Amino acid sequence: MKILIDRFNGVDKFVQAYDLSIDEVKGKTLLALLQHIKRTQDISLNFTSACRMAICGACGVRVNGHSYLACDTKMDDLLIEYDNPESLKISPLANFKVLSDLVVDWEPSIENLRKIKPTITPKEAFSDKKGCVQTQAEVDAIKKQWDCILCGCCASECNKLEADSSDYMEPFVFTHAFRAAYDSRSKDALKHLKPSIANGLWMCVHCQECADRCPKGISAADDIAMLRVMAMKKGLKDGTGPAHAEAFLKDLEDTGRLNEIYLALRSEGVLANTTKIDIAYNLMKAGKMNPLHIFGDEEIEGHEDLVKMIEAARAANKE
Ligand code: FES
Repeated sequence: MKILIDRFNGVDKFVQAYDLSIDEVKGKTLLALLQHIKRTQDISLNFTSACRMAICGACGVRVNGHSYLACDTKMDDLLIEYDNPESLKISPLANFKVLSDLVVDWEPSIENLRKIKPTITPKEAFSDKKGCVQTQAEVDAIKKQWDCILCGCCASECNKLEADSSDYMEPFVFTHAFRAAYDSRSKDALKHLKPSIANGLWMCVHCQECADRCPKGISAADDIAMLRVMAMKKGLKDGTGPAHAEAFLKDLEDTGRLNEIYLALRSEGVLANTTKIDIAYNLMKAGKMNPLHIFGDEEIEGHEDLVKMIEAARAANKE
């Protein structure tokens, strides 16, 4: 079969094809396959790896557009997943600057990690006899997020980063902000929360791709949602994001139906929407917005049950 690899030599980008027999492909991990190609066909091929046991996070790459941890991915599984293809395309992670072949630049991402101050300031001095003792439940609340190995697979899949990375950080950065902000030993959750808000907390587009592709089963999307909950509880409600969340909930409570007219007006205000008449017109044309809904909307069937669920969720949240 052919293994196609996206190459970059610092000047030109090109795709290089490597012919391998199926016996050379089967029984290997994706990382072992890359090493095999480097050893037997092309010493100039560049990629990164270190631990070879899904710990260091160095070996994230894409196959046919989807991100994988190369040392933790069996070629046999890929052959099944892609239905015994004649070729597979291996590329560097998306949403990172490519330095060489499959090697990407982590510096900007590490800079973003620094922004959210991932180390906690303990509530109680360690010299205090009590120390920073945690209950099992408090450990469990943040345990999963400690599994993040910074492989970048979530960032590679992120649709928001692909659309515009100027006002957003990598999903794993929010996971580390969650882990620090929700640590019961932390004296100051705001230390992690405020820079998260300032760097795109409300910009996640809920595509769930980060959760889908994380090799450790972490959902950065859930972590982002929990940071938003914390922001709302702490009264940090400035901006369109919190207003949109409240407008969304109001629609659900009122009728169970999203009223696109009021959703936009309540989220961004009347003034901001006067410049978006063209968007409203296109939404109406596509049947996504009904101008008659300015007079209100009908309740969905079973709306009372939905309201009861919202009330139950509120009560549980208070507890
Ligand atoms: S080489 Fe360390 S995680 Fe793959």
